[in-house]
Amino acid sequence: MNPLDAPALANPYPWYARLRQQGDLLYHQASRHWVASTARAVTTLLNHPGCRVRPLDSPVPLALGEGPAATLFSRLMRMNEGNAHRCPRQMLAAPIQRCTAADVSEETHRVATQLMTESQPLDVNHIMFQIPVTVVARLLGIRPDEARLLPRLTADFSAGFSAEVGEVETLHRAHLAAEELLQRFEHHLSSPYGPAAYIQPATNAEFGPDNRTRTAANLAGLLVQTFEATTGLVGNTLITLASRPALMQRVVQRHVTLSEVIAEVVRHDPPIQLTRRYMAEDSDVLGQQLPANASIILLLASANRDSQANEEGERFILERPSRRCFSFGAGSHHCPGETLATTIAGTTVQLLLQSGQVTPAQLRWHYKPSPNARIPVFEHRNQTEAT
Ligand code: HEM
Repeated sequence: MNPLDAPALANPYPWYARLRQQGDLLYHQASRHWVASTARAVTTLLNHPGCRVRPLDSPVPLALGEGPAATLFSRLMRMNEGNAHRCPRQMLAAPIQRCTAADVSEETHRVATQLMTESQPLDVNHIMFQIPVTVVARLLGIRPDEARLLPRLTADFSAGFSAEVGEVETLHRAHLAAEELLQRFEHHLSSPYGPAAYIQPATNAEFGPDNRTRTAANLAGLLVQTFEATTGLVGNTLITLASRPALMQRVVQRHVTLSEVIAEVVRHDPPIQLTRRYMAEDSDVLGQQLPANASIILLLASANRDSQANEEGERFILERPSRRCFSFGAGSHHCPGETLATTIAGTTVQLLLQSGQVTPAQLRWHYKPSPNARIPVFEHRNQTEAT
């Protein structure tokens, strides 16, 4: 099986377990990727000084060509090393992490309440898709009428990342969306910040003369990072409750909180199942000779279940005393948005359950095809039956 097909399988976890039994790091001949499946291999590679987030000969996916989507992509901290990574990270990570769970929850309440009033009968897929990006845009100080346009633009831009050269329509939409995102955020940065802006980029003199364009790109980048991952976390939490009636009961009776549930969902069934690295030069990693530019798939979701990291890793255990979780990465590129994501997801699930229109036990779903994310798509017929 191609490792990039795993995230969208109904149950990829037995395959991950078999990989772990075969060793830390394996070469997958058919797909020409190295695959890291154990906690030891994933930890080593995420912290390895010789690993890069992009292939050496391809800083931007080939299919994006040279249009606005390529420009935006090339400026993202997530896709860079050195200054182009460090400077935007210095500007944004601390303001993101200063956002309190109370602020995020309040904003999610506001956005979700309005959306749920408009989306009747309730469309769970639409709510999951729309809320996370809108909330983060609002935390960045974007006006409500503009913030609600951003999930679609973010989706169109993100779809370009994995498009093939011949997918003309997808690529065209990605360029248009990137152009609009850049324009909107540049304009946003040139206007004075209102009181609604919880996340304000810190100034960074090192960033150079085109500071505003680079900052604008990285604000759009926050929406990209938020989008599928947080949508998937809402969906995977609903699925966890759907598959565990006793747990659902404890949530309804308020014996456990949704934050406790989400902390284990993030480990047990994470929305981002894998990330990628490329070797900068020939290297020996855990006894394997990896050539320069070797492409490595780091199975975060598999590392989470490795018994070396978490006892009885395959089991969903709410009260884990010392949970080890790789779902938000580690090392220099680790995710600064954990509190934001888990709070948005928790508040969204709570409001969906309180609406009385979503009964987890009656949901049916399949997974959206994706090379790295695990995002359920709920089937409408059953949602309606649940009402
Ligand atoms: C459940 C939701 C989320 C998950 C599972 C997630 C996961 C991750 C992971 C695994 C990485 C590291 C990728 C790598 O090293 O290859 C990452 C990076 C990042 N995430 Fe998140 N993320 C989530 C939500 C968010 C949110 C809400 C934000 C901010 C608004 C955010 C901002 C970022 C940024 C800026 C990076 C790049 C950091 C860097 O390159 O230094 N993420 N995320």
